[in-house]
This record gives sequence, structure tokens and C-alpha cells, in this order.
Amino acid sequence: MPKPILNVLDGQITKRPPIWIMRQAGRYLPEYRELRKKAKNFLHFCYSPELASEATLQPIRRYQFDAAILFSDILVIPDALKQNVRFEEGEGPRLDPVLSLQDLNRLSSTLDLDHLNPVFETIRLVKPQLPPQTTFLGFCGAPWTVASYMIAGKGTPELAPSRLKAYADPDFMAALLDRLEKASISYLIAQFKAGIDAAQIFESFAGALPANLLDLYSFGPISRIIKGVRAEIPSARFIVFCRNAGFHHTSVRAKTGANAVALDWAVDENWAREAIQKQGAVQGHLDPLLLVQGGDRLKQRAETILEAFASGPHIFNLGHGIVPETSPDHVEQLLRIVRG
Ligand code: CP3
Repeated sequence: MPKPILNVLDGQITKRPPIWIMRQAGRYLPEYRELRKKAKNFLHFCYSPELASEATLQPIRRYQFDAAILFSDILVIPDALKQNVRFEEGEGPRLDPVLSLQDLNRLSSTLDLDHLNPVFETIRLVKPQLPPQTTFLGFCGAPWTVASYMIAGKGTPELAPSRLKAYADPDFMAALLDRLEKASISYLIAQFKAGIDAAQIFESFAGALPANLLDLYSFGPISRIIKGVRAEIPSARFIVFCRNAGFHHTSVRAKTGANAVALDWAVDENWAREAIQKQGAVQGHLDPLLLVQGGDRLKQRAETILEAFASGPHIFNLGHGIVPETSPDHVEQLLRIVRG
């Protein structure tokens, strides 16, 4: 059975765009909040194949999205490299900062795939339970985004710690990104071997980079990850999300080898159609807060986006992850609009 999202990634234009939602398994769903209580902390949740597979499948059962996304987190990579990573209730991730080559040399030089076996087991559990038309997406964080958490030890609004580190100690920055690039290649290859159909790379902090550093710190590492995975799995397809990249979204496909360019909510869709969708698939890009709002505002905006991208390959999604305050009924409303 054809998988609409894979077809769109290959450049096909569909009558109605397929749809999935970033962070579709999450706290806006009552069944997720119930399931979440069964794990003692968030990392334990990610490393429990029974719980993580259930979380992956919940939004598929409820909404029949066109893609399931593996339930895990981008920070399992620093965890598997033996950095201390924890998720504090209501505060988000906390890591013991890695600030120098000496700190980096105390971490694992290569990725411990055994440590991540529960993630691959989750993929193997989910795979046979998916409807045949549903695309199974794996993912990883792009090196610059993951490195920024490793350096700051937490999320920071403008990434001052990692930008400063890039200026103060470029050799350390290069070594850290290189470690993450190689780890991401072996991690994604293992995800594909376990059964994912395609992968999304999250460069959530692309917008914090000055344009002169984008090639070095973002597009370069992402392109080598995609190349490295395709050396082993030639058919591997990728969605690349360089959040807040602005004008530089136009470079993503050519510079990284992405099949689809994921757009954040700040982008103008008419510009993106001409500048990006003419070369291939786009994904996005509804403001997640319109899904909190619902009603006519949601309807008008979703229809505008549908119309703007109707003449080319398009995967409907939000411009960033769904937020916990969203009513599940508004997701239902969005699906009715997108599916017509
Ligand atoms: O999309 C999905 O449904 C798949 C699962 C997924 C999660 N995180 C689950 C999660 C994916 C793809 C991610 C990626 C991720 N994680 C990113 C990149 C995407 C983005 O949002 O920009 C980043 C930066 C992270 C790091 C991270 N993980 C943060 C900052 C937080 C805390 C924020 C919050 O909402 O609490 C997490 C925790 C996290 N990852 C949750 C989920 C469902 C919430 C934890 C909980 O249930 O308590």
C-alpha cells in the first residue's frame, strides 16, 4: 500500500496533503498524561519500549495521522555518550555542561548503541502495529542544537553559551559537533534498520546562528549525516527542520540533501512556494497557538496554508511542536479542514 508521506517526499503532488503534527504524542492528550504516570522519569519513559511504543501509537489511534513519530527525545544522544542528562518536572532538561576538550574527552568517543537498544526495540514493537499507509518517522537532533544543550546544560533563549563557545574555542566546537555528527549517523542507521521509513532532523536552533556560521555549524554537519546514512541505506529520506532560518530555508534542500524542507510558522507561505516548494516538498507550517485558539481563526489560516501549497508537494504540519494547552478537539477540527 502506498504511503502518502513517502510519495510527497519523492516530489508527488497529492489532492489533499498528508498530515502529522510535531510532538503529536504529548501532554495535550489525556491518554498520554495517564501513560506518563507509569514511568519514574522522562528518560525512563523513553527507554521503556512498552511505554514508548504505546505513546507513539496513541495519536495514530485517535487521529489516524499519516505519520507516526518514534517517541523518544533528541537528548538520548548526550545521555548515550555518558553525559549526565535529567528531565526535571516542570523545568525541562538539565545536563552537566560540557565546556572544553577535556570535558568532551571524558565522554564516550563513539555512541554506545547498546544503551539505545530500547529505542530500537520501540521501533520494532511499533512497526507491525501501524496501518499500512502510515509512514513511520524516526528522528535525531542536529549537532548544533544538541551541542547547545550539552554546553548550556539547559534550554536558553538565544543560545549565548554555545555562540560564545563557538567564538572562544572553535576547536572544541568542531570536535563536539564532529562527535555528534558521527553518533547521529550510527543512531539513524540503526533506526532505519529497526524499521523506520524516513527521518526528521531537528535543527531547532538554526535561527540563533549568524548567517556566516550556518554552513559550518548547521548545514555542513546535517549534510554529512544524510550522506553518511545514505551510504548505508541509499533510499533513506529526510525532512530537515531548520527552525527560524528565515531566508536561509531556501538553502536547506541543496545544502543538506533533504527531501522535504520543514518550515516554521514565521515564514510567508507565498514566498516559500516560489522559493522552496518549486524545488521539492515542503512541510508545515501552522502556528501551534492557532491550534490552541481553534474556531474561525484556525480555519482561515489552515485554509490559506492549504491553498498556498496546493500546487506542489506538501505535508501539512505545525510550525513547531503542539503545546500542552491545546484542546484535542481542535486537532480534530484541523483534520477535518485538511482532509476536506
Ligand atoms: O514529536 C513527537 O511526538 C516525538 C517525540 C519528541 C519529543 N521530543 C518528546 C518529548 C521529539 C521529536 C522531541 C524532540 C525534541 N526534544 C526537540 C526538538 C524539537 C523542538 O521542540 O524544537 C528538543 C529541543 C527537545 C528537548 C526537550 N525535550 C525539551 C526542551 C523538553 C521539555 C519541554 C517540555 O515540553 O516539557 C523535552 C521533553 C519532552 N520531549 C516531552 C515530550 C513529549 C515532554 C516531557 C513530559 O512528558 O513530561
